[in-house]
Amino acid sequence: MGRGSGFGKTILFGEHFVVHGVPGIASAVDSAADATVKKAQKGINVTDERSGATGYAEKKKLQQLESIERMLTTMGMNPKDVALDIWLGGNLPGFSGLGASAASSVAIARAIAAEFNLDLSDERINDIAYEAEKAYAGNPSGIDNTAATFGGLIWFKKNLAGGSNMIEQLSIREPVEIVICNTGIVANTKAMVAGVAERKKQNPTKYDAIFGQAEELAHKGRHAMKEFDLRQVGKLMDENHYLLQEIEVSCKELDYLVDLAREMGAFGAKMTGGGGGGCMLSLTPGKELQEAVAEAMENEGFKVLKTKMGIRKV
Ligand code: MEV
Repeated sequence: MGRGSGFGKTILFGEHFVVHGVPGIASAVDSAADATVKKAQKGINVTDERSGATGYAEKKKLQQLESIERMLTTMGMNPKDVALDIWLGGNLPGFSGLGASAASSVAIARAIAAEFNLDLSDERINDIAYEAEKAYAGNPSGIDNTAATFGGLIWFKKNLAGGSNMIEQLSIREPVEIVICNTGIVANTKAMVAGVAERKKQNPTKYDAIFGQAEELAHKGRHAMKEFDLRQVGKLMDENHYLLQEIEVSCKELDYLVDLAREMGAFGAKMTGGGGGGCMLSLTPGKELQEAVAEAMENEGFKVLKTKMGIRKV
């Protein structure tokens, strides 16, 4: 039996903009998806035991099957000739926006490689998981699978010409507490990514200006993290949320949680990931602030993940 894991992630700066070549920053979280893979008699059978949003696994089932077929093809196998029993679990909740699909793809790719005795580098696993991500995100940037494969804090810029993406490991003085909160709405990343591309085409002037601001924010965010200026990081996250509202990927539940986090004293808050539901992220340095923000959200009936950004290798 082959085993593998993939990190969950949260995007601090630049979701959606990264798809169009703007740099972004993602951080792995200290939870991962785990997979086991065993050669079977017939078909591709997935047992998904990840905890989290009700309905997540069912809603993503078709995309999941397509993603596995894409992985097998990329690994040089014909999905029709391969029979596998795949189990998915781990402590990464199946929330939309936490990179659950990319984390599971990386976990499965590693487990398939182990089951078939293939010695694949992390770079190769990342490429395979990128192909798998296309099933979930349509035209993904690659930031999710990169964070899921390598972990840590990542500066990412997609190479729109098709060559290697820019991937840099960043460091921060010390990991910082964050609260990730799930709206409970299972979002369709593919539709969200396609919607942005469509509106960008319809309103080039407006969108070009916003994309320019997003690029500036990513650079400022990187600088603020290097300086460990957490107030500034939070302020920039707030600005990033505003830009995401402008490109119509937030929703009232995300905005509500973002406001609640700020009211409770979070240094900054924004949606994270594809939007249209899924998760938001708040910067809450120190255990006490983290608890206060998380509790306010839980009291409103939302599920949270209390973790840290900038953990070196989780
Ligand atoms: C999803 O976690 C991030 C998006 O930017 C899509 C992508 O980058 O592939 C919305």
